Amino acid sequence: MKSIQLPLFKKTARLLIRPLELHDYENWAQAYSNLLPPQNEWDETSWVDSELTLKKFKDLLKTQNQLRAKDSYYHFGIFRKDDGMLVGEVNLMDISRGIFQNAYLGYRVFNIYWNNGYATEACEAALKIAFKDLKLHRVEAGVSPANKASIKVAKNLGLRKEGLSQRRVYSNKKWVDLILFAGTAEDFGFKYRFSQK
Ligand SMILES: CC(C)(COP(=O)(O)OP(=O)(O)OC[C@H]1O[C@@H](n2cnc3c(N)ncnc32)[C@H](O)[C@@H]1OP(=O)(O)O)[C@@H](O)C(=O)NCCC(=O)NCCS
Repeated sequence: MKSIQLPLFKKTARLLIRPLELHDYENWAQAYSNLLPPQNEWDETSWVDSELTLKKFKDLLKTQNQLRAKDSYYHFGIFRKDDGMLVGEVNLMDISRGIFQNAYLGYRVFNIYWNNGYATEACEAALKIAFKDLKLHRVEAGVSPANKASIKVAKNLGLRKEGLSQRRVYSNKKWVDLILFAGTAEDFGFKYRFSQK
């Protein structure tokens, strides 16, 4: 499947998830400027102002648009509906079509907004996009056993714990284990009809 032209956005009670657009630049730069110092090892390092340039944002959009056009990676900003603030991101990454029809779910909420239920709410929307709009069959999330908040999000979503995937990713100069969580279209009430295009 290539170049999905659907309007890829989803509204929830409090949030809107959608791809970033050029007019989001100031919102994006402000979100990174407002970050508290990293709160744990999975919390991305704060960016310095010199990196939050319009050029950098345009480059980011270009990459994201190219990956989306190739049906290989879908990035979504998480926007709060009441004030429009960008509060994080949720991603459907490393899409495998063919007999897999699989994506990896990635999520991050900016640290000043943690524990408001935003990751859970945004990921629920991303799962709907994955199964309904992108016609994926399976979504997986790999979480460090020590990342308690992320494990809670995976459980909140109703993803199934499938086991420990050993030496799964290279991070901080070593191979680390991840707990693999997953769900299929059937688990989320979507009828899946396989067709290999
Ligand atoms: C993981 C992350 C996305 C969660 O975002 P969030 O918006 O705070 O998530 P939610 O509010 O939807 O849910 C968090 C849950 O974890 C719980 N939690 C938070 N810290 C916890 C801890 N140290 N131990 C146990 N539970 C914890 C919260 O109480 C909440 O539980 P609830 O649903 O029962 O209320 C956010 O912490 C983050 O961006 N971390 C850095 C990046 C990251 O780790 N991404 C995931 C990589 S797999």
